[in-house]
Amino acid sequence: MSMESDIDVMCVGLTKTFRDFWMRPRVRAVEGVDLQIRRGQIYGLLGPNGSGKSTTIKMLLGLLAPTSGRIAVLGRRPRDVASKQHVGYLPEESYLYRFLSARETLDYYGRLFRLPAAVRRERTDRLLEMVGLEAVEHRPVGEFSKGMQRRVGLAQSLINDPQLLILDEPTSGMDPVGARQIKDLIADLGRRGKTVLLCTHQLTDVEDLCDRVAIMFGGRVRAEGTCDDLLVQEALTTIRTPALSAEVIAEIRDLLARRGIGQCDVERPRRRMEALFLEIVDRARAEGLDTSGARSGGAVAAFLRGATPPTALQDSGSAGATPEQADAGPVDDALIESLVQRG
Ligand SMILES: Nc1ncnc2c1ncn2[C@@H]1O[C@H](COP(=O)(O)OP(=O)(O)O)[C@@H](O)[C@H]1O
Ligand SMILES: [Mg+2]
Repeated sequence: MSMESDIDVMCVGLTKTFRDFWMRPRVRAVEGVDLQIRRGQIYGLLGPNGSGKSTTIKMLLGLLAPTSGRIAVLGRRPRDVASKQHVGYLPEESYLYRFLSARETLDYYGRLFRLPAAVRRERTDRLLEMVGLEAVEHRPVGEFSKGMQRRVGLAQSLINDPQLLILDEPTSGMDPVGARQIKDLIADLGRRGKTVLLCTHQLTDVEDLCDRVAIMFGGRVRAEGTCDDLLVQEALTTIRTPALSAEVIAEIRDLLARRGIGQCDVERPRRRMEALFLEIVDRARAEGLDTSGARSGGAVAAFLRGATPPTALQDSGSAGATPEQADAGPVDDALIESLVQRG
């Protein structure tokens, strides 16, 4: 029986200890991390600076060798070049060549993936439009603001139409309007069946986007689950109505008191600052005020259709563990073995 697995990223017991010049263990950057990310999920890896997020994703990408632990990415080991074909990566620091223009940068990455010239050109057009850089495409990226460089980086990470997108701090250095656009793009990519691993300390990004999150500290995962699992306050109830008069509020308090509920906070909810900010900027735009730099980006480029055929995935029916079983309990070694292509 051939059964296709929908687990795009899995690691078990992932550990990285950096050593000093004399090979003495110096920093335990990542310790015993288990992760499981399904196809089409937007997965948030959260944690303060130095908690091990970037080290974790570098190991998933095969850029760093783990000290111990096992990894399967798109059904292969991370160092396997075949899996890189379907992975897009936006590094924490964009490694952009200062003197190349945005267009040349995308073309360069397209060549690394051996895309034919016509495909490179078409994708570059679409991606520049998508991230709002078509008006500045001939300027060297070294002149770009941090936020504009993040946009080039995001476009670069998509040039190969990857199934799995790994984004390290995608909105860092961006103004709220730019950050919102990038978030909308990421959400859209998720809807198209791309799997996204989003690494960030921007908590609002995570709440807006992620299906599941893992919160890291000191190299370990301290909490993992869906945003609802982690955030819903089971012990409280909120009832939202149009503004109420003092009289109605008093009546409600009476009713609650009769039911033995003495505690009742009544407040006017606030909007989020992001909503206010975006509204003000929208209004200024509507009044015809202009700005230089990045334009507001467009919709997701049509070629990013998501869900590339899972050719890299191996039959997982024979190894005993099915993805369903794995979802219920802790990740296990047999499953990872079954995800990784052998031979
Ligand atoms: N190449 C390296 N050599 C030594 N220590 C490192 C190296 N890279 C990261 N570290 C250390 O590993 C820990 C985790 O870093 P990192 O994964 O970059 O955290 P995050 O991305 O969550 O901010 C930090 O203490 C950092 O100083
Ligand atoms: Mg980092």
